[in-house]
Amino acid sequence: MVIDKKGLAILGSTGSIGQQTLDIVRAFPNNFQVIALAANNNIYSLENQIKEFKPKFISFNNDAENKHLLEPYGYFNSTMENMVTDPDVDIVIAATNSCSSLIPIIEAIKAKKDIALANKESIVMAGNLISKLSKENNINIFPLDSEPNAIWQCIKGEDLGVYKLILTASGGAVRNQKISDLSRLTPKQVLNHPNWEMGSKITIDSSTLINKALEVAESHWLFNIEWEKIEILMHPQSIIHSMVEFNDGSIKAQMSHPDMRLPIQYALLQEKRQINPNLKRLDLKKINQLNFEQLDKNKYPCFELSLETLKLGHTWPAVLCGIDETAVELFLKNKIQFNQILTLIEKALSIHRPKQNPDIQQILDSFNWAKKEGYQLAKEL
Ligand SMILES: NC(=O)c1ccc[n+]([C@@H]2O[C@H](COP(=O)([O-])OP(=O)(O)OC[C@H]3O[C@@H](n4cnc5c(N)ncnc54)[C@H](OP(=O)(O)O)[C@@H]3O)[C@@H](O)[C@H]2O)c1
Repeated sequence: MVIDKKGLAILGSTGSIGQQTLDIVRAFPNNFQVIALAANNNIYSLENQIKEFKPKFISFNNDAENKHLLEPYGYFNSTMENMVTDPDVDIVIAATNSCSSLIPIIEAIKAKKDIALANKESIVMAGNLISKLSKENNINIFPLDSEPNAIWQCIKGEDLGVYKLILTASGGAVRNQKISDLSRLTPKQVLNHPNWEMGSKITIDSSTLINKALEVAESHWLFNIEWEKIEILMHPQSIIHSMVEFNDGSIKAQMSHPDMRLPIQYALLQEKRQINPNLKRLDLKKINQLNFEQLDKNKYPCFELSLETLKLGHTWPAVLCGIDETAVELFLKNKIQFNQILTLIEKALSIHRPKQNPDIQQILDSFNWAKKEGYQLAKEL
């Protein structure tokens, strides 16, 4: 049987999601062709990927000194915007951190490419614009993030009777800490996530639960569902990745071993369920219990503040994403304490003057304003 290979453009190919996407390509070599790879700094990892996958385009953002390393392979440095619109690209995997995927995502949608979305910041900051454009261009946005991906798996074929979405949260490394000890947590402790191996930014965001607020916003935009119908449930084992409760009271849950390659595979194989021997299967006999708890708002004060800010729309989500990025960076560099992430966010939000119905440039300007302002505000803590 001849399978039509899907052409992939992977933005952020050297990161945690990017590398796991390439694992899926390795597992299903007849299904995918890597057309384009984009990275920021990590030239050595990108070089290995070029040797293995021989893409048509590469994009390398930083470090002009190292660009000459690419010339022996005959590459020019493309922009992400240019490569995602190439006719050979069918699916754009948006897996950069921060907001660097935002403009490439917009350009890809305009060129009628499907998007496999890991980069939640983009949809959180520009949900209105991305939703409108994706409808106009009749393209799909496949969620890679495990929670919205789980919702997608549960909701399939049943989207008329949804009562509420239940997003699960493990609570990250903070889960077993006393509230009184939070100010003393070191980056090393917070980076030690009990269940998931991820990039450093999202690992810290998982411990403040800002990541969970971003996922609520992501689900609101992706599934076009009211904010009030999205709930959070603490589930320490990270076995149930999310659930959907239907009007008749039935609840469907998606369960699997915590491994991002499964949602990536489900999205890229376009909902076809295929055996991947590299993915560990769940043995329910060995899982003695699945626990659920209410969110402790005192332990995770960033959650409510972030969610309320995201609901405001306009330029507020961009400011939240920008200030959070600086706060996490400063925490990782031991410049602020873990609980000062909240203080810094509160300070930036208190001085933001929002723009109504912003365009993409105003959204990016607000993000960059908050990111920069954060360094100044941190000096005053
Ligand atoms: N990791 C997870 O399990 C997970 C789960 C769900 C959602 N997500 C979301 O997925 C996104 C990526 O997360 P991650 O954990 O994979 O991050 P990561 O490990 O930090 O990787 C980020 C990737 O983006 C690249 N990059 C950054 N800026 C770029 C730019 N301007 N141009 C081109 N490439 C650029 C980096 O390149 P270099 O390596 O060269 O720096 C790297 O390849 C985030 O939005 C995160 O919230 C991640």
